[in-house]
Amino acid sequence: MMKIMVIGSGGREHAVIKKLKENPEVTEIFALPGNGGMEGDAVCVNIGAKDIPAQVKFALENKIDYAVVTPDDPLVLGAVDELEKAGVPCFGPNKKAAIIEGSKVFSKNLMKKYGIPTAKYEVFSDPEKALEYIKTAPIPTVVKADGLALGKGVIIAETREDAENAVKSIMEEKVFGESGAQIVIEEFLEGPEVSVLSFTDGKTVVPMVSSMDHKRALDGDKGLNTGGMGTVAPNPYYTNEVAKECMEKIFLPTVRAMNEEGRTFKGCLYFGLMITKDGPKVIEYNCRFGDPETQVVLPLLKSDLFTVMKAVTQEKLSEVPVEFSRDSAACVIMASDGYPGKYKTGFEITLDEETKKHVFFAGAKKENGVLKTGGGRVLGVTETAKDLKSALEKAYEDVQKIAFKNAYYRKDIGARALKAEE
Ligand code: AMP
Ligand code: GLY
Repeated sequence: MMKIMVIGSGGREHAVIKKLKENPEVTEIFALPGNGGMEGDAVCVNIGAKDIPAQVKFALENKIDYAVVTPDDPLVLGAVDELEKAGVPCFGPNKKAAIIEGSKVFSKNLMKKYGIPTAKYEVFSDPEKALEYIKTAPIPTVVKADGLALGKGVIIAETREDAENAVKSIMEEKVFGESGAQIVIEEFLEGPEVSVLSFTDGKTVVPMVSSMDHKRALDGDKGLNTGGMGTVAPNPYYTNEVAKECMEKIFLPTVRAMNEEGRTFKGCLYFGLMITKDGPKVIEYNCRFGDPETQVVLPLLKSDLFTVMKAVTQEKLSEVPVEFSRDSAACVIMASDGYPGKYKTGFEITLDEETKKHVFFAGAKKENGVLKTGGGRVLGVTETAKDLKSALEKAYEDVQKIAFKNAYYRKDIGARALKAEE
């Protein structure tokens, strides 16, 4: 009998919950706050992902046995520290370790200190100095706010003027608030991107199956950056050779570096990589499962997720099997038209029970028993199959069986991966 609480409300959290449910020991799952589409898989509790005192209170009052802290905000704010202090074992890094995502200045300096391959960069806390630097910086250049900025704190500047505007909006107009008190200006890298999520207990690091995100809103990788419009796994650019190099030059050195710094990382460490002509380099670290990466990665996990998570918490990861299927997975995100800009919500979502098995809900809510849209990314549809082409076909067939007004999805998820496979 195990009572688990999962903090967060998106498709990623739904994927985690569905996987945890496979363990017969797990008798109850609470989602804080969860979303209306999770009904049947978890009990949603109206406590926000950042309301740490309320989370601790809930855990104690309900005798929660284990907590999974999934989103970046509560991790960076120290939810794991507070829950553990109250005696609740957790999956997720503590505040000291979550800084690897919480501060880009920290992560860039870490990589420089330990020789982990990444884009060359400069750090600025004075806008005048940043503007001076941009006058001679190689273009395109990349301007990043130091702190969390809802995934929007990265600006790829194609011209010097764009770079200047980025500095001004982040440092002077403070469009990302205090996240922009410091900035990183870095070298523009080119090459295919690969996401690698890993389990680590600070001693062992076990990479999960690789994946490919589709960040732009429109087909052909055009339009605005989003949280992610679809994913496929495995990522064809992540060959065995690249994987070996990443393990030696990036994964193990990062875990060791965090130990050296007295910031042992336990949880899911996400490596956002770019496979450049000079080898794989780190674009970003995340201190958590990626979304929608998790929606393709966890369905391929053959081992029991709860067992693996507990092993991470107890620093016994080397003692449990972590196996992935050799199949492929594809996830297509259905969003509210207009996302990531303005969009309307409150439209009824219809789908049959069979299709629902393949859906992870995100921006969904229940109103008087009716399931309705309630956010930008409404849901993700994931299918697995022997090969990527079949997984994609099945996922797009499912999409046809799901209806809501103003539904928008990309028609070309996986197209680039299929081409690369050839
Ligand atoms: P991040 O929020 O750090 O994941 O950055 C968002 C996206 O910006 C990444 O997925 C990349 O596509 C792109 N990006 C970030 N840093 C660089 C870089 N140094 N060179 C080229 N593209 C980058
Ligand atoms: N899909 C990218 C992320 O979760 O940060």
